[in-house]
Amino acid sequence: MIPINVPQIGEEEIAAVVKVMKSGIITHGLGAGPMVTKFEKAFAKFMNARHAIAVNTGTSALHLSIAGAGIKRGHEVILPSFTFVATAEVIAMIGAKPVFVDIDPETYNVSPRIIEKAITKKTKAIMPVDLYGLPADMQPIREIADKHDLAIIEDAAQAHGASYKRKPPGVFADTACWSFYASKNMTTGEGGMITTNDDEIAEKLRFMRSHGEKEKYKSLMLGHNYHMPEIQAAIGLVQLKRLPKFIGKRRQNAKKLSARLSKAKKLQLPKEPKGYKHSWYLYTVRLKDAKGKRRDKIVEKLKQKGIGAEVYYVIPIHLMPYYRKFGKPRLKEAEKTARQVFSLPVHPGVTAKQIEFIGETVLHAIE
Ligand SMILES: Cc1ncc(COP(=O)(O)O)c(C=O)c1O
Repeated sequence: MIPINVPQIGEEEIAAVVKVMKSGIITHGLGAGPMVTKFEKAFAKFMNARHAIAVNTGTSALHLSIAGAGIKRGHEVILPSFTFVATAEVIAMIGAKPVFVDIDPETYNVSPRIIEKAITKKTKAIMPVDLYGLPADMQPIREIADKHDLAIIEDAAQAHGASYKRKPPGVFADTACWSFYASKNMTTGEGGMITTNDDEIAEKLRFMRSHGEKEKYKSLMLGHNYHMPEIQAAIGLVQLKRLPKFIGKRRQNAKKLSARLSKAKKLQLPKEPKGYKHSWYLYTVRLKDAKGKRRDKIVEKLKQKGIGAEVYYVIPIHLMPYYRKFGKPRLKEAEKTARQVFSLPVHPGVTAKQIEFIGETVLHAIE
């Protein structure tokens, strides 16, 4: 099976882990040990941000960002319904209301126009998602946020290595949240990071990461234990160094696959609009005329041939059993997209020969 994504772990990551274990320092009481601090500095530099705050998961990064922005019960946060559930989860966790909006059928991301229509007096923040690794249209979203005095928490969990107007994700947001889950473009097994240019937010989030403490046993605010362990940070440092090569390989694979699939009239291929750089976390195609179970049958056929095709995401969040209580919007594009898309492997371990095989098998399967 050619899996949809595989962690790219080598000897350097293994050596980095052993080194930390031998050092005897495996975590830090306030969440920032020597390796974590080093990783935060390197990540901030890579992402053109003043600060980076390492945490234990991408979900924690989102949760801290929401809490740090002062969002609470009675507030509304606008987000796309077509994303991984964690984006919505953190809003519900804090007692606020997720306001699900539709997506653009070409980019699968929220558009500024859609966001502006959903703003009410209760809206406090916008959470754009850089879905599949393609950044959202952040500059006009920033303008809307400024006009209505809203915070932007960008879910960049899938976008390491992407860029928008030549800038890394996060530059137009108050905070950007990253995941280092095992499938991601760079991984620490589990792990997360927040980047921000705001000194005050950064300081607050550092305290909140560690029980609201600036000093031990003297909580200044409500916090959590969201520490990233030293071993994870050591892996992250190596992975960050390797990230440009990983992205290079993903780009090459995506380009070859698009060339191979270009004659398939039934497929909508993923786009990289001018001024955007895709991270190709997921190479996602749409079977344009797919109704009922047609898409699922094709994914099954591909699996039988050894291709780990997967569907991200089968159910838009507003239709998930738990989330229906937040209202029943009709989100036509998100619902249609969920029935028609599937993703194909382009990770750095996929060879040119395998890309050929994937392309050929997909063309055959859709006929
Ligand atoms: C879009 C999106 N948001 C949030 C997350 C949550 O990250 P984590 O799994 O590290 O908690 C993920 C990844 O799983 C994701 O893909």
